[in-house]
Amino acid sequence: MVAETTLTPNDFILPLFVREGIDAPVPIESLPGVVQHTTASLVDEVARAVDLGVPAVMLFGVPLNKDPEGSEAWNPDGVVQVALAALRDRFGDQVVAIADLCVDEYTSHGHCGIVDERGDVDNDATLELYRKAAVAQVTAGADIVAPSGMMDGQVAAIRAALDDAGFPERAILAYAAKYASSMYGPFRDAVDVTIADGGDRKGYQQDYRNAREALAEVRLDLDEGADMVMVKPALPYLDIVRQVRDDVDVPVAAYHVSGEYAMLKAAAANGWIDGDAATIEVLTSIKRAGADMILTYLALEASELLAG
Ligand code: PBG
Repeated sequence: MVAETTLTPNDFILPLFVREGIDAPVPIESLPGVVQHTTASLVDEVARAVDLGVPAVMLFGVPLNKDPEGSEAWNPDGVVQVALAALRDRFGDQVVAIADLCVDEYTSHGHCGIVDERGDVDNDATLELYRKAAVAQVTAGADIVAPSGMMDGQVAAIRAALDDAGFPERAILAYAAKYASSMYGPFRDAVDVTIADGGDRKGYQQDYRNAREALAEVRLDLDEGADMVMVKPALPYLDIVRQVRDDVDVPVAAYHVSGEYAMLKAAAANGWIDGDAATIEVLTSIKRAGADMILTYLALEASELLAG
């Protein structure tokens, strides 16, 4: 009667991987229970999500061919575009289709943009790639694009590209406060990414010692036209989720990322924690901190647990 926070399947966004050139789903060792999907198995998984009351999915693509620019990210026949079209065909408006918008899954060097001679990402040259990817994704059927590359000016560039291409109604969920985190390791297995030359993303993702900077990034993205903002990862950054929630009026998402999922699963598999109880506790705490939407690989199992 007095509980302040109620978790429901309606809070979740399910991240999904779709891989080109496979004829059966491929398990991801560091993300037990998560697979790289074929288009067909993706459609089945989304059907499960719809049945359980999960309103939205976020797609990541694993292309057959990677190149320095990540050109498969805007190929109309690229893996995510094909998947988006399949979802649109099958589910119409029953599910919100969100496309992660970045090129790291598509570049041969694993960075989120064009790399210059010094090995640094060229921010402004990269914006042109994001414009093309955004238009390809919404043309294929994405309701929302979610730029995750943390380039300066990316939201404004994408908003302009979508408006110019005749998609003023499609929304942008900005990965606004995305930290350079050790928690993305299993994700990089899932999308077959190794950053070249032992590199990292500290040049464009945020320093975890900073909180005010996250709020500045959020405000910038809103000024540029973001419709919703995200904090990522979730559990080590619940203070940021709360501060962002208190600071802005748009919907706030939090991403319970691959490493957070893997830690929970590993401990549960060893019998060191109760996995089901931890699943509900962790997700409830993210909502209590202020998230309106939670991206989580636990979305389906949590929905089943909630249904009892
Ligand atoms: C970049 C992107 C990453 C994640 C989501 N989008 C990886 C990164 O920034 O290195 C990580 C998600 C997770 O760990 O679950 N396209």
